[in-house]
Amino acid sequence: MNDLNKDSTTTLITKPAKTDYPISELIAKRWSARAFSTRPVERSKLLSILEAARWAPSSRNEQPWRYIIFTSENVEKLKKAQSVLKDINDYAKRAPILICAITKKTYSDNSNYNRLHFHDLGAANENMFLEAFNQGLIMHEMGGFEVQKAREVFNIPEDFELGIMIAIGYQDTHQVLPERLIQKTKMPRERKLLSEIAFNEELGNGITADTDENNQIK
Ligand SMILES: Cc1cc2nc3c(=O)[nH]c(=O)nc-3n(C[C@H](O)[C@H](O)[C@H](O)COP(=O)(O)O)c2cc1C
Repeated sequence: MNDLNKDSTTTLITKPAKTDYPISELIAKRWSARAFSTRPVERSKLLSILEAARWAPSSRNEQPWRYIIFTSENVEKLKKAQSVLKDINDYAKRAPILICAITKKTYSDNSNYNRLHFHDLGAANENMFLEAFNQGLIMHEMGGFEVQKAREVFNIPEDFELGIMIAIGYQDTHQVLPERLIQKTKMPRERKLLSEIAFNEELGNGITADTDENNQIK
């Protein structure tokens, strides 16, 4: 059910994808919520989320992703990590978990450039995202942070590229957000049409459903 139009102070907003074709419930349920509760997250849940990242596929099984984790168990360090976020991501400062996700630019065995390092980080991050929802949590990925500052704050070696900051926590009601973000939260999730992203045999030839004589999808 979509709770978008309810405005109760206790309702937690859900925004399941309105899909044209059936997909797994977990993928449909995932969304980038911003209303974080300050409630601490159990260590076991955090470990399951990281384990999910660990099992992502990667080019030559390089596993270029690395995660530097900060939690509300050490508020001082968590605040330092939060200092790299741009103002647009202030909402993430309520989250009890903040992660800096980086990726190794070269293959470990021959030191050659790995052109797929960012691709593989993204795959691992999406695994995390889905597992976070599976654990009853929310997660938000953020490219909006001071990259150079983060390199210094987190002491990132040259061979690694900064990817994103990730906030994870329990969901709170949208009233914890500033008005601007409440409005944004209430907007529907939108996507390009399938025919704009997938093509039959050549770019531009957008894929469409095969239908029978009754216009039913075969
Ligand atoms: C790599 C990446 C960077 C993002 N950076 C930000 C960000 O800095 N701030 C923010 O509010 N949302 C950020 N987002 C969230 C996107 O806006 C969101 O995923 C997109 O609008 C689709 O919404 P959905 O995740 O709810 O389906 C980012 C997402 C990704 C994947």
